Formats: sequence, structure tokens, C-alpha cells
Amino acid sequence: MKILVCKNYDEMSERAARIFAAQLILKPDTVLGLATGSTPEGMYASLVEKYNEGKIDFSEVTSFNLDEYYNLPKENDQSYDYFMKKHLFNHVNIKNYNLPNGMAEDVEKECKDYEAKIDAAGGIDIQVLGIGQNGHIGFNEPASAFKKETHLVELTESTIEANSRFFESADEVPKKAVSMGTGTIMKSKKIVLLASGEAKADAIAKTVYGDIDPMVPASILQLHKDVVLVLDEKAASKL
Ligand code: GLP
Repeated sequence: MKILVCKNYDEMSERAARIFAAQLILKPDTVLGLATGSTPEGMYASLVEKYNEGKIDFSEVTSFNLDEYYNLPKENDQSYDYFMKKHLFNHVNIKNYNLPNGMAEDVEKECKDYEAKIDAAGGIDIQVLGIGQNGHIGFNEPASAFKKETHLVELTESTIEANSRFFESADEVPKKAVSMGTGTIMKSKKIVLLASGEAKADAIAKTVYGDIDPMVPASILQLHKDVVLVLDEKAASKL
């Protein structure tokens, strides 16, 4: 694991954006793995800026998002589809973007199809990750075993609680989501995990120094050969 400690959120966002920009310049037909959450918002803003300055181009890019809420229409302003359009897709010339369809009638089939689509695209070249306070990546929640492929997840109380800040109340937060598995994530050629703020410090310390344990899903990243953690000082404070 490589660890970059940045002064603050803005520096973290810029450092991460440069890694992605460099990737797009070197390989214009990159397959991007994308994440939602408040953490990558600054990085997306910086990528949009670089696009507007003519430094990067998304026309040949294919992207796959990590996850989507189950049974929440795309049009809902809390859906991850909505988030991605708002922060990135509506502002750049990307044509080929994909998110799991949380509204699919046959979710199991949707999970299999999503996995197959990633493989057919040649696999993910570079995946951005955030991290939950309980160490979850995508929506791979702490569990007794690592879940390999894209699957339907029951969200934990702590995740529902953490995400309730975006909804009117915890009751409105979807209780399930469709998420890439830890296996899907581990197949990415390169992984860039972003974390900012003290609330993530514990999860980051366990990810780096803890046992590889499905109760801390991000700890599996210790086994990946090309991972960069881009952290601000607060998220890195327990390392
Ligand atoms: C959600 C997303 C994760 C994200 C996490 C942390 O649970 N599914 O991909 O990493 O939230 O979000 P935030 O960056 O807002 O702290």
C-alpha cells in the first residue's frame, strides 16, 4: 500500500484528481470504477475543472459505479445515479457510464449481468473508493465472510444512520443496496482510496494495520498489489 497524507480535504481531492487525470491521459479508453459519498465530491469537481481546461477527455472512457440503492428510483435526488450526473456525468463528455440498476425486477440477474459487463469491458483499470466508518467499501458491510461478486446487500444500522444525514429521516434511507463485491473491487488493476476527517481515522488504522478480516471489509486491500490511500491529516491521525 502506498499512503499519501495531505494537509486537508482540498489537497486530498487535488492529489486524487491528478492520479485519475494522469490515467486518462495515458490511456484515453480507461475503464473507471467510480464511487459516491461526500468524500470524492472535491475530486470530481477538480476533474470537471481539468476537463473544462481541455486537459482531459472522457469520450472513450467507460465507467462502472460501485453501488446503487435498492428500490430507489434514479430520479430520486439521493440515488447514486443522480449523484453521479450532478457531480460528474452532466459536466464532461462521458458517453458510456454504468451503475447497477437498483430497480431491476430480477436483482440476482442484474448482479450477474453487471459483473459480466465489467468483465466484457476488460475489467476496471482504476477504481476510486471511499470508506465507511465501519470499514465498508462500496456497500460491502462487515460480515462473517468477504462477498465476492456484485450482490444485494442489507445495510447495517450504522450505515443507515450515517447516510440518514442526506434524507429527511432514517426511515427514508433505503435498507438495501446493490454493490460490487470485494472480489470485483480486488480485480481492479489499481485502487485509489480517499478518506477525510477524524471519523474515518479508526477505519483507516484498521485497514492498514489490522488483521485482514471481513468485519473490516477494506482490510482486504492489504492483499492488492497497487493501492494508494489518499488521506487528509485527520483521517491519517491514527496511523
Ligand atoms: C456510502 C457509499 C460508499 C462510501 C461511504 C462513505 O456508504 N456506498 O461508497 O464510501 O458511503 O461516504 P462518505 O464519503 O460520505 O463518508
